[in-house]
Amino acid sequence: MKRSLFIASALLVTGLQPALADTSEGKALHDAKCLSCHMVGDHTKLYTRKDRKVDSLKRLGGMVSACTQNLNIDWFPEDEKKVVDYINATWYHFPTK
Ligand code: HEC
Repeated sequence: MKRSLFIASALLVTGLQPALADTSEGKALHDAKCLSCHMVGDHTKLYTRKDRKVDSLKRLGGMVSACTQNLNIDWFPEDEKKVVDYINATWYHFPTK
């Protein structure tokens, strides 16, 4: 009985980890590379302004690509996706499916 409870909670903990790890990695990448122009205090305004350019998850991906290409940042597509996920989870909240 105790043993199966232990296994159940171990599964629960490992099951939660990937989701948490994903946005924190995205945040780290984003904060390291993206705040220099958007400015630390102001990027929230950029992502939430009324006339923001991005109006779908697809366009968010496109905008992140455009900004990384401008910057010559050597991110893998996975890194870009992590940043998109982080920005979407934090500011835009587009449905992911
Ligand atoms: C060289 C300066 C610069 C850097 C660094 C930069 N951006 Fe941008 N970004 C801009 C500017 C300027 C705009 C506004 C473009 C406009 O209004 O047409 C923008 C707009 C955006 C938008 C759209 C906001 C909206 O209107 O909805 C997103 C999303 C975005 N950037 C993501 C990123 C990400 C992710 C990074 C890091 C890889 C990044 N940016 C790095 C200059 C930069």
